[in-house]
Amino acid sequence: MATRCKTAVLVSGSGTNLQAFIDRVGCGALDLELSVVFSNKPDAFGLVRARNAGIPTACIEHGGFTDRDSFDRSMAAKLDEWQPDLLILAGFMRILSAAFVARYAGRILNIHPALLPAYPGLNTHQRVLDAGDKWHGSTVHFVTEELDGGPRILQGRLPVVAGETADQLAARVQAVEHQIYPEAAGWVGEGRVEFRDGRTRIDGAIADEAVIQVFDRAGKKLQVSRPAADRTR
Ligand code: GRF
Repeated sequence: MATRCKTAVLVSGSGTNLQAFIDRVGCGALDLELSVVFSNKPDAFGLVRARNAGIPTACIEHGGFTDRDSFDRSMAAKLDEWQPDLLILAGFMRILSAAFVARYAGRILNIHPALLPAYPGLNTHQRVLDAGDKWHGSTVHFVTEELDGGPRILQGRLPVVAGETADQLAARVQAVEHQIYPEAAGWVGEGRVEFRDGRTRIDGAIADEAVIQVFDRAGKKLQVSRPAADRTR
């Protein structure tokens, strides 16, 4: 992938993760070109964040389409005007069609607020509290056809605090997301992490486990563990 990786960010809502990308790129800590911010919702605050940062925006409302495939084709045609190397899903609340995922195979990232493979789907924070889990977090992964099921790149873990609400937990998870998502996307943008032929490679070696970063309850990074890279496969 090119050093200056052309990146499209897809949002449906507030876009705090988008803001984390904007801030990191703005201070020179992340070497991506934020080429366009796309939304399926014209009132998504993420579009305002993009405009404020001088990033081109595009919006196509999905309500005007009768089926997922035709919306996704229009979205792809629009995105391709910027010839993106990488698509970042940042709170993009649409399931992507198989054809869309195939078109950008290995070039779509998502962040899911759970320690995947645990808790795919919605309401993850409440489900973690209901289960009495001691740990929660968020996972950056490549997007495949399987919802929240693609190869994991980087996982941020933090302890659940006794008595906290789902909203409080969600806020702490989001603060971790704002650290791990730009970092993982940077690795992909630099070509250090790639997904091809069904395998994830980190620095050229096959690595089927995510990098794990452990945070304290205040969101301070404590520890990083790299998976044991296996060069024999
Ligand atoms: C994030 O919490 C992310 O995990 C999920 O959607 C949320 C988006 O939040 N996929 P924001 O719009 O970036 O604030």
